[in-house]
Formats: sequence, structure tokens, C-alpha cells
Amino acid sequence: MDIISTRNMSRDFIEDVLEKTKKMETIAKAKKQVDMLKGKTLATLFFEPSTRTKLSFMAAMNLLGGTVVGFDDPRTSSVKKGETLADTIRVVEGYANAIVIRHPNEGAAALAAKFSEVPIINGGDGSNQHPTQALLDMYTILKEKGKLDGLKVTLAGDLKYGRTVHSLAYALSKFDVSFVFASPPSLRMPRWIVSDLKSSGISIKEIDSIEVKSDVLYLTRIQKERFPDIEEYQRVSSAYILDEETLKELGEETMIMHPLPRVNEISPGVDNDRRAKYFVQSFYGVPTRMALLAMVMADI
Ligand code: NCD
Repeated sequence: MDIISTRNMSRDFIEDVLEKTKKMETIAKAKKQVDMLKGKTLATLFFEPSTRTKLSFMAAMNLLGGTVVGFDDPRTSSVKKGETLADTIRVVEGYANAIVIRHPNEGAAALAAKFSEVPIINGGDGSNQHPTQALLDMYTILKEKGKLDGLKVTLAGDLKYGRTVHSLAYALSKFDVSFVFASPPSLRMPRWIVSDLKSSGISIKEIDSIEVKSDVLYLTRIQKERFPDIEEYQRVSSAYILDEETLKELGEETMIMHPLPRVNEISPGVDNDRRAKYFVQSFYGVPTRMALLAMVMADI
């Protein structure tokens, strides 16, 4: 089983992951190793920078008793010598029971899955998808709100290049939600994603200001590294900022989420507000990835 995209993920599968994540949360909180994946090896191939995704996969694998090999700087691997992704995958599958890959090219994880005999987990492919982030986001919402159906969710910031919001929008669309997409006009959600979502019957409102009264306000970083034109980045770089001032307008029960890293979207003065959930959200990366690793390698 590969985890490449949330686009075709079923509601049943998502609910199954969330249930298994709940069981893993106890182990993650206790930080006590179990032997569910003893003797198994995970390879992490990071062709792009990462803190949370890489470290939480490593921590998850370690807690389940397995081992991790990998690289996080392709300049120190044979990629530097011109090795193709297909060859790298064919080699690494011989060393590991599953592979997590993060790559700047859209479609890289799907391509890797074509060449790999072992499960491939997409840790982010360009501005396309980041499915494991979406699942931990779903878990965070479920924990905080007690449900996924009946929620109004605002996704704000860089909806064009942000892969986390692409994956999250598809995952949430399997539930009964309504969306507000808040972004500068040049960073709107890609049209084909909007049309996919609408065809599953979801209501979507697109605005170019920030909407602060939803059940969930999910902010994102403007993805500087994806802009072909740096001046265009500079024009939109301070588009949506949540600070102590805007916080006054926030709904009483609006939870604030962010996949992190943040740049200037949320000022540190917001961190101690009871509605700020982005650090607990990043913690849930560990149990969610434990559940996924166990599902792909131990068939739980
Ligand atoms: C995100 C990513 O890599 O897409 N980071 C993460 O995995 N939490 C978000 C981002 O880089 O803005």
C-alpha cells in the first residue's frame, strides 16, 4: 500500500487511520518504545528541507521499534552524480521495508511508487500533495472539535502552491464540511481542485480577505521557493497575518492551525491563546505517522 495523495482516499480509510492514530497517541505521549516494527527499516529520502515531517517519521519509527536510514541533503547522495529517481528507488527498496520521499517535483512520489516493490509514502511532492500532513491535520481537528462533519473550515494564505492545503481540502471533502478559501487573487486554490471539490457537493466560498469566524482557521506560509518571480512573492508575502489585533475579531471557538514552519503569518503573541493549536498539531504528526507506518509495514 502506498500513501501518495488524499484525492482518492476514501472516508473509510481516513477514519481507519484516525482510529489507529488514537491508539498510537498513548505510546507517543509516553515516549516508550514498543516492538511492533522491530527488525523493519524505513528509508527517508528528503530532496527538500524538512523538520517536522522527517523528524516525526524518525521518532514514529523509533517508537515502534524499527530503524531509519536515509538522506536529507541530496548533494551528499549519488543524486549529485546524476542518478535518476527511478534508479535511487530501485536501489533503496533493497535496503528498506518502506520509503518516505519528499521531492520538489509534482508527481515524484507517484513515480517512485511505479518503480518500488516496497510501500512509498509521499512526504510532499512540489506544490502537489502532502497526504500525511493532511491526516495529522484531520486528527487534530477531530481531537479538538470532537467531529469532522458539520464544520466550516477556512484555508488561508498560499492556496496555489501550498501542498498541505491541497491534501487537506481533498481529505476534508470526504466529510460534510463547507470551505472558505481566503487568499490573494494570484494565490487562489487551483481551478481543477476547486472543480473536483465542487463535484463532490462541497460548498466553497472564495474571498481575498481573512475569515475569522469559522470552526477552523488554517493558515499557511507563502511558499517563497515555488515562485518563479521573486517580485511577485514580495507583493503577496504579508498577505494574511494573524496578530494580537486580528485575534480580537476571531470567533470564540475558532481553532487556529498552521502546518508550520511559519514566517510572519502568526505573530508569537498569538501562541498563548487557548485557540492556538499549531504546536499540538505538530505533535500529532508522531502518532499519525506511527499509525501509517504500522499500516504499511505490519498490516495492522
Ligand atoms: C509544510 C510543507 O513542507 O509543505 N511543512 C510541513 O511539512 N509541516 C508546509 C510549508 O513548508 O509551508
